[in-house]
Formats: sequence, structure tokens, C-alpha cells
Amino acid sequence: MVKRVRKCVVPAAGLGTRFLPATKSVPKELLPIVDTPTLQYIVAEAAHAGIEDVILITARGKTSMVDHFDLSPELEETLLSRGKVAERDALRAISNMARLASIRQHEPLGLGHAVLQAANLVGDEPFAVILGDDVIDAETPAIAQLVECYQRTGMGVVALMEVPVEETPMYGIAAGTMLDDRTMRIERMVEKPQSDPPSNLAVIGRYVLPPRVFDYLREVQPGVGGEIQLTDALALLAEREGLVGYRFEGKRYDAGDRLGYLKANVAFALKRPDLRQGLLEWLREIVAEADAR
Ligand code: G1P
Repeated sequence: MVKRVRKCVVPAAGLGTRFLPATKSVPKELLPIVDTPTLQYIVAEAAHAGIEDVILITARGKTSMVDHFDLSPELEETLLSRGKVAERDALRAISNMARLASIRQHEPLGLGHAVLQAANLVGDEPFAVILGDDVIDAETPAIAQLVECYQRTGMGVVALMEVPVEETPMYGIAAGTMLDDRTMRIERMVEKPQSDPPSNLAVIGRYVLPPRVFDYLREVQPGVGGEIQLTDALALLAEREGLVGYRFEGKRYDAGDRLGYLKANVAFALKRPDLRQGLLEWLREIVAEADAR
């Protein structure tokens, strides 16, 4: 019997230097896509996949991330007194999405090190990992697709996406044998290969992992950038116990990159009935203006 996936680790301890000065006092995970913080999309995705506990890996100066998922009685009262019941309910729903725990990563020693901070809170059960920089718009939430794959194969799962070969140095890259259209048995994994990538299948920030991965995280030495890399621990997991990659269905935005973040804002705004028409008209205008120049 494969255990149910009830917990999700969300590493959110980064400095967000690519978004300075915005991130001088606001955690990058709270920057909005349209009007909703990226982190809220992530927690909602986990909740939609049946996950009950979200373990947030935080850092100094980022406590407002936890506040975002608490109740806000004063704000709620003000909204109610103005008759804005739906708005009040939407606000309250944020704190009911999942049970949130947070733990600090004291030093920025890498993604693998960040995930390892959650070992005791996760305990002896499979868990999901979602990286906030990867925002995925999909009919079935990407993490739910991976949970389904985990239940089917009984093995740890990483999300995979094809990327142009020149972009492979930016990602963890995996290679192996395809088991069906979307599922690959992983035989090799390399973090940010600077040359000779084993494939053009990039690991995107969604994982479902067995608790044994914590042992491998304790075992690996610092890798790329002198950091403890999750990919290096997953390479050990693949070799010793098996790991699959799943080519998820959905559109992924790199919200950790300025251009990717802007694209995510435009794409999500175009899905909003109240914004779509106005935005489309304006986009057509500025594109025509730019073309005329
Ligand atoms: C991290 C992982 C990398 C993965 C990427 C996905 O890298 O280390 O394996 O491909 O996320 O977004 P980062 O983008 O944090 O440097």
C-alpha cells in the first residue's frame, strides 16, 4: 500500500535579489500575480491536491509570509461593515486552505539544505515539494498529477519539462527510459550542466518524495555553487531505490525571473473576465505602436 501524500514542503528562504528593490522589505513570495501572492497560488495548489499540511521554509525578515495565512479580524470587520461579504469570505478562505507550519533555514546553504530543515516535521511519510518560482497553470494542479504518478508507480516523482538545449545550464536535467508518453524511469540527473546535458528534460519545481530522501540529503556534499543540491540527493535516490520523472500537463511560468514574472501577470490577467477585454485592447495598441516604430 502506497501512503497518502499529506504534507508539502515549500522552500521560501531565498533573498529574492533579482527583484530588488521590491524585495528589500517584502518577501519575493508575496509579490502578486495580478492581485494574489505567488505563495498563495502554491498553497492553493497543494490544498487542491488533498495536502493538509504545508511546511514553509523561511528566513529572517520574512515572517509576513506566515501572517498572510492567518486570520485578519480587523480587515474582515471593516469589509463586513461595508457590506463586502464575498470579499470577507475570500479573505477568510486563505487561512483555511491548509495548516501552515514554518521553520527557518538559518543560512542560505542551498535548496537541498532548505528541504532538509523539514525532516522532523515531515517524519516517516512521503511528501510533496513545491518551488514558488515555478508557477504552473494547469487543469489538474501539477502537484496532483505528480501525486497520482507516485500512487501509480510507488516511486518518488519529479516534474519534467522539455526546454531548448541552450537553457539546460539553468536547470536540473534528467535522462532515462520512457515508460509511457509522460513517465520516465530516471537513470541520470545533473544539476545545471554547463556542457553535455544528458537530455533536454528539465526538472521543474514539483516533487513527490519518499522520506528516505532526507538520508541522501545528509549524505551529499556541496555541489553546484557550493550548495547542498536537491538534485544530487535525487540522483542517489534514482540510483539506489528508483525515481521517475513525469512530463506534466500545463503551462509553466518562471516567476523567479523578471520577464517570466511579467508574462505570468499578463497571462493570469487575461484569464480574469473583469480584466481580459481592457488588457487585450491595450496590448494590441502598444504592440501596434511598437511595430510602427
Ligand atoms: C532549482 C533546482 C533545479 C530545478 C529548478 C526548477 O534551481 O535546483 O534542479 O531545475 O529549481 O525551477 P533554481 O532555479 O532554484 O536555481
